[in-house]
Amino acid sequence: MNILAIETSCDETSAAIVADGARVLGQVTASQMEIHRQFGGVVPEVASRRHVEAITRVVDTALGQAGLGFSDLAAIAVTMGPGLLGALLVGVAAAKAYSLATGLPMIGVHHIAGHVAAAMLEEPDRPAVRPPFLCLVASGGHTELYEVDASFRFTRLGGTRDDAAGEAYDKVARLLGLAYPGGPEVDKLARQGDPARFSFPRGLLDDPSLDFSFSGMKTAVLVALDKIKRQGQDVPVEDVCASFQAAVIEVLVEKTRRAARMTGHRTVVVAGGVAANRGLRAAMRAMATEEGIGVHFPSPGLCTDNAAMIGAAAYLRAREGRFDTLELGAYADLTLDEWQSGRYPAE
Ligand code: KG4
Ligand code: ZN
Repeated sequence: MNILAIETSCDETSAAIVADGARVLGQVTASQMEIHRQFGGVVPEVASRRHVEAITRVVDTALGQAGLGFSDLAAIAVTMGPGLLGALLVGVAAAKAYSLATGLPMIGVHHIAGHVAAAMLEEPDRPAVRPPFLCLVASGGHTELYEVDASFRFTRLGGTRDDAAGEAYDKVARLLGLAYPGGPEVDKLARQGDPARFSFPRGLLDDPSLDFSFSGMKTAVLVALDKIKRQGQDVPVEDVCASFQAAVIEVLVEKTRRAARMTGHRTVVVAGGVAANRGLRAAMRAMATEEGIGVHFPSPGLCTDNAAMIGAAAYLRAREGRFDTLELGAYADLTLDEWQSGRYPAE
């Protein structure tokens, strides 16, 4: 079953053809990073316009890569939320237009379910993972722990009470004057720094819940930078990055360890943009070895936003015979429960 998937929830215009929810036959992602970089973050209006400009070319090129036409497809999948409303609307409108023109059914996909489904894609050097598993999603908008059952249904165990992990990376990068998006920059510089130079708070680490808090870390970085500047010293950027990253990683890893112990899951999936982080991957692997459990990450390129992950999640819905109609909406805020139940909120 070949599915054309479209993802436009933020600043990547992406289209992919995914076979049986597992094999990526073609994928094209037009990144808008260079434009948004000038503004230090994603400008929603600019993102929407760029999606409009790119979408048909991206879809055509993905189909070309796969060597397929619309007659070879079984469905058209699209991210319906959560995300930037104007950006989502471009993808949903395009999916509807293709559906209307071809008669193919549509499948609306929750963006977070997509991030998790990235782990189900077969990749050259790693086997696809199948649920049930425990999952940590750490992205620019989310930091949540879920149990995912054999039918790909999500139960939330905990999540951030303020900023998402990726958001904290981006904010700290901004304080340091690094380019947007900050996560990859901080990741790179952290490798050359001393993680013990600054002791940043480990938000909610000692709290028995499986919740996270990252805003205190960001504030602590701000306070430390102010102090260094007041003293007229140079900012040791690498050490700040390494120390901040150590704090983020410790809470992500320890809460995931706690969740694994509490639920008894033997398989952990780490997904979302922050799962591309080298330090996090190494620390999660070490934790998994200590606990005698397995940990899986999509390859870094499939951790950040892409359409293949949307195709993988859509396949599981298609297998259940669950399709959407041309009534499908786009939702800036869409919970996994709303998506799973099919009871979408009023637009
Ligand atoms: O999943 P994603 O592409 O988009 C959202 O759904 O939010 O995640 C983007 C986030 C950004 O905050 C970015 O800074 C962060 O993921 N990120 C990283 C790394 N690569 C991307 N954070 C830490 N280390 C990285 N290597
Ligand atoms: Zn994302």
